Amino acid sequence: MHISVSVLVENTALKKGLLAEHGLSVYIEAGEQKILFDTGQSGIVLHNAKVLGHRLDRLDAVVLSHGHYDHTGGLKHVLKSCGDLKIYAHPSAFKPKFACNENGVGRSIGLPGADGGLLPNIEKLSVSTTQPTEIIEGIFVTGQIPRVTPFEDTGGPFFLDAACTQPDLMFDDQALFFNTSQGTVVLLGCAHAGVINTLVYVHELTGGKSIHAVMGGMHLLSADEERMNRTMDHFYRLDPDLLGPAHCTGRSAVFRLHASFGRKCIPFSGGTRITFTR
Ligand SMILES: [Fe+2]
Ligand SMILES: [Fe+2]
Repeated sequence: MHISVSVLVENTALKKGLLAEHGLSVYIEAGEQKILFDTGQSGIVLHNAKVLGHRLDRLDAVVLSHGHYDHTGGLKHVLKSCGDLKIYAHPSAFKPKFACNENGVGRSIGLPGADGGLLPNIEKLSVSTTQPTEIIEGIFVTGQIPRVTPFEDTGGPFFLDAACTQPDLMFDDQALFFNTSQGTVVLLGCAHAGVINTLVYVHELTGGKSIHAVMGGMHLLSADEERMNRTMDHFYRLDPDLLGPAHCTGRSAVFRLHASFGRKCIPFSGGTRITFTR
């Protein structure tokens, strides 16, 4: 059986007619079952799905990697267009979220409309993923990811309140994974739990299977030298066959990954489609 991973929304796009925005949305097909991992930040997910020939009205579920707007803003458009769907998310994804500026003022960066009643069915539709959860046969989310490395943090000034008094530890951050004949494939939203924490946990959840591919946002854009060096050390040890650093990975981290992993680094932009064999 084949599992295909198709990038609908990313900061960049590879094909004519596709739109791009700061955000991520990935469409996954496994036989007759289809899921959407994140929704981008606006309705362009619907436009791009149409351009790429994917029928979102046949989705079985939506998975949210975390609550930030650039992954969840398209949700209301998807629900409006496709009808009610199961939404697999950690409950913290629906909490208000803020990014704090240097003056201590918070900017709202959470799921748009969750607190203002714009998504009235959200509680009814959502399936809590605090624990590892199977979404469709053989495709899982990690649920809350244990923080075991001493060198990783959430990667930004994230808070739960506009006054920036309660840090947001981003417990909602989760990754999607599935096993293939070549090893485990891991899809990251923003990896606010830390990309290495995420991979260590997936490795544990799969009973130590090798990691075949890691794709998505690695949120290394504000990583200091020590974090970058130690992250690279772990990547060398895990030695994945494919790396698709995208979205919030950060330019210098992407350069470093390309310099070290060469052809193993692949584009993961709007229009990218990769098929794996289970
Ligand atoms: Fe993001
Ligand atoms: Fe994020």
